[in-house]
Amino acid sequence: MSVYRYAIIGTGRPWKSDGATGFGMSHTHQHGFAKTGRTELVAVADVREDNARLFLDKYNVDAPIFTNYEEMLAEIKPEILSIATWPHLHADMTVAACEAGVKAIHCEKPMATTWGDAKRMKAAADANGTIVTFNHQRRNLEAFQKARQIILSGELGDLTLMECECGNLFDWGTHWLDMLFFFNGDVPAEWVIGQIDLREPDVIFGAPMEQQGLVYWKWTNGVRGIMVTGHDSKLTTMMRLTGTKGIIELPSENALKVRTEQDSDWRVIPMIENIKGSDPIDLACADLIKALDTPGYKPLLSIDYAIQHTEVIYAAYESSRWRGRIDLPLKTEDSALVSMLESGEIGPKRRAQPSVQ
Ligand SMILES: NC(=O)c1ccc[n+]([C@@H]2O[C@H](COP(=O)([O-])OP(=O)(O)OC[C@H]3O[C@@H](n4cnc5c(N)ncnc54)[C@H](O)[C@@H]3O)[C@@H](O)[C@H]2O)c1
Repeated sequence: MSVYRYAIIGTGRPWKSDGATGFGMSHTHQHGFAKTGRTELVAVADVREDNARLFLDKYNVDAPIFTNYEEMLAEIKPEILSIATWPHLHADMTVAACEAGVKAIHCEKPMATTWGDAKRMKAAADANGTIVTFNHQRRNLEAFQKARQIILSGELGDLTLMECECGNLFDWGTHWLDMLFFFNGDVPAEWVIGQIDLREPDVIFGAPMEQQGLVYWKWTNGVRGIMVTGHDSKLTTMMRLTGTKGIIELPSENALKVRTEQDSDWRVIPMIENIKGSDPIDLACADLIKALDTPGYKPLLSIDYAIQHTEVIYAAYESSRWRGRIDLPLKTEDSALVSMLESGEIGPKRRAQPSVQ
């Protein structure tokens, strides 16, 4: 079996360690790819040379450090690349890597900070035949896998409505939307209606988020989705999947209960696989190697899936700006949230709410 030449952009520092600016997700990618035994770390790129040095020392790897990722791509020509930088950098880095001939890229979520950038990434992957995956690793968690199996088994009847709640549409919502698309067989969405409330932007990994949001959409197979976001989102459970013959609830990402027409009470589905910690990311890395080894195999975290739910995020922002339903495909390319924040239509520059007399 061949050993692939692996490189990383954005080394970070492990979560909560001295000088950390985030989670240091690169460490989880390194763990996952090293575990496959099929990669050799041949270079790292980071604008913070100290982060890169610490990273290489931690894993006892002797490899060159680049402060310019484009130079690394040109000189080292890696076959596999991890991109573990903040979201506004994902698009340029992914496009450059695809054009530099990288065979497979595992990029952190969310895809990109505008819809236009997300489409650019997909176009570059397609044009260059690059396998691109995003770290929506929850597809590998047991509770979500089991929920999908129950839906596929027909026990729930026909899926009709999926509801979920989380902190925001972009940083966390990308995971939850990804799960709902997974449950629904990754069919595309048809239309989206949404509203966001943003007073003082919450900024996560450099990107502004709404404080509250409400999104309702329809998939092309008729199933509906609802997502409630923000500090006051209360759906009574984290996720609820309703079919014509039963309901699944996921109170947390490691718990699952089902109630069908045959049940007099909720049935708790035991979690037995003990997938925890870095396991879902390890599985994502192994799946990317499988895709490289197996022509025609589409990895579970493929860009083809990620782009479909990313469109719902930007369509929800656009719906809030347009004050109406957005029929897909989404035609605007910016982030309506960011554009409205900059123009003062939302955010701290906006005039006070009119008083109702
Ligand atoms: N999948 C998950 O569960 C999960 C969890 C947390 C974070 N994330 C995502 O991971 C991504 C990275 O977050 P993090 O917490 O690992 O960040 P981090 O701050 O820990 O690390 C980012 C690194 O990128 C480097 N960097 C910045 N600009 C660069 C450039 N131009 N070229 C090269 N390197 C550059 C920084 O110096 C830093 O070392 C984010 O998109 C975040 O949303 C995903």
